Amino acid sequence: MPLASAFRLLALAVTAATLLAPGATADTVAVAIDPSKPGAKIDRNLFGQFAEHLGRGVYEGVWVGPDSKIPNTRGIRSDVVAALEALRVPNVRWPGGCFADEYHWRKGIGPRRAVTLNPNWGGVTESNAFGTHEFMDFIGQIGSEAYLSVDVGSGTPQEAAEWLEYLTTDQPTTLALERAANGHGAPYRIAFLGVGNESWDCGGNMTPDHYLSQLKAYSRFVRNFNPAQQKPDGNRMLKIAVGPGGDGPRWTEWTEAIMKAWQGRSWSWDIDGLSLHSYTVVKWPPSYESVGFGETEYAEILKSTLEMDRLIATHSAIMDRYDPQKKIALVVDEWGGWYAPLPGTNPGFLAQQNSLRDAVLAALNLNIFARHADRVRGANIAQMVNVLQAMILTDREKMVLTPTYHVFRMYVPFQGATFVPASFSGGLYTHRDVELPRLDAIAARDTAGKLHVAIVNVDPNRPADMELSLANVRAVSAAGATLTAPKVDSVNSFEAPGTVAPKPVSATIRDGKVALRVEPKSVTVISVEQ
Ligand code: AHR
Repeated sequence: MPLASAFRLLALAVTAATLLAPGATADTVAVAIDPSKPGAKIDRNLFGQFAEHLGRGVYEGVWVGPDSKIPNTRGIRSDVVAALEALRVPNVRWPGGCFADEYHWRKGIGPRRAVTLNPNWGGVTESNAFGTHEFMDFIGQIGSEAYLSVDVGSGTPQEAAEWLEYLTTDQPTTLALERAANGHGAPYRIAFLGVGNESWDCGGNMTPDHYLSQLKAYSRFVRNFNPAQQKPDGNRMLKIAVGPGGDGPRWTEWTEAIMKAWQGRSWSWDIDGLSLHSYTVVKWPPSYESVGFGETEYAEILKSTLEMDRLIATHSAIMDRYDPQKKIALVVDEWGGWYAPLPGTNPGFLAQQNSLRDAVLAALNLNIFARHADRVRGANIAQMVNVLQAMILTDREKMVLTPTYHVFRMYVPFQGATFVPASFSGGLYTHRDVELPRLDAIAARDTAGKLHVAIVNVDPNRPADMELSLANVRAVSAAGATLTAPKVDSVNSFEAPGTVAPKPVSATIRDGKVALRVEPKSVTVISVEQ
């Protein structure tokens, strides 16, 4: 090596060493956090849930009926309510999904309910025992808000308009009196209205033009009359249009068409958001197992999930052209891992286990949403209980919290916090032909001024030593929780519910910087006192 190069290397090494705080090693990953450059607010609706009439999601998962031996309040199981309360679920999207475009709300009110069919999901009967009042009771019990998807596929604007009148008017109309006779005199509050679901496929296989003509009618006629929601304080109901379901021309054309129409809208219609559906599946039909897999499937699924970032960027760029002020939110109202059905289950019930991989997957997606918080202002993981990437699994009277549940709980401090830039270079995690960023991290400041940092160590084999420095601020202490488990496919079962559970973690403060080690395949959230 020429002498000059050797000196340059030596100089670089000395510089690196002098930049490191005492105790830090050359392998330490430096994370520079700059609270003086706040970004967008992380809308708490990014942590929304989705509960469709599908498999055991609603029936058994939420609704057991008032006569059940399972402890319940007015038919809604108490263990699930208590668990969800802790997540501070901002909104629940209901009744679907594909189910929503075949749902006729009148069958789910009053003392006598029609028994109908659920042809989308397992061809089973639908008792309609869980209907409008039960859903509103449920979200009241967990302290959440309603995100209703109205039936565009097989319904009419009139049917949806009457549902909203039934729910929201305080005038003594026949529908309001019927609502009161069914037990609720006061108008309900509806935070979000989804105008159809996947209208490009299960919602009616519409072209963008066909959907737009529906959207305009529903937007005009489906009114929320709740007096409290008419006030100009941001309380009004937000209307979410059906958006894209992937990338490629079919989906970018869809986004273009809706946004172009919105830009040229007349006074008679409007929307507040555009949905995006994207599952981590690698290929359809879903064939990756939800348990009993190895590092290859771990790496491949996580590679696939990171596509979310590009997808959001693609559709955001189109939206920016028609809506540079970012008035229209992108709402990722269906996302999560979608795997092969568990053996022995009805394939239409979309039953799958939930492993440590799902915890990592959830954290990576939440971080992506947070980075796009200026445009992405809502997201609903699919689905809440017993279906797809669930928070909770039940088996009759038994209940278990999944690894994904724990991530949502650990991320509660990020709800409504302000994004703070964090820069770092963690290198790569490589497995066979899959190459992924080894580490991911976001930071945010909550309304009380406290700083929270989430760190994902994707690498299942190597821990990472981290050193967080806060521009112009000295940390005083830092503590939080970390979630990991022995294997990438470790799960919580009814027999062993604590296999994947958060454990307390505290960091060392060195010269005003936060030093901590994150375990392989882990999610860590720490709060920093300054
Ligand atoms: O979440 C399951 C299904 O996935 C939903 O019903 C549908 O909207 C999507 O295709």
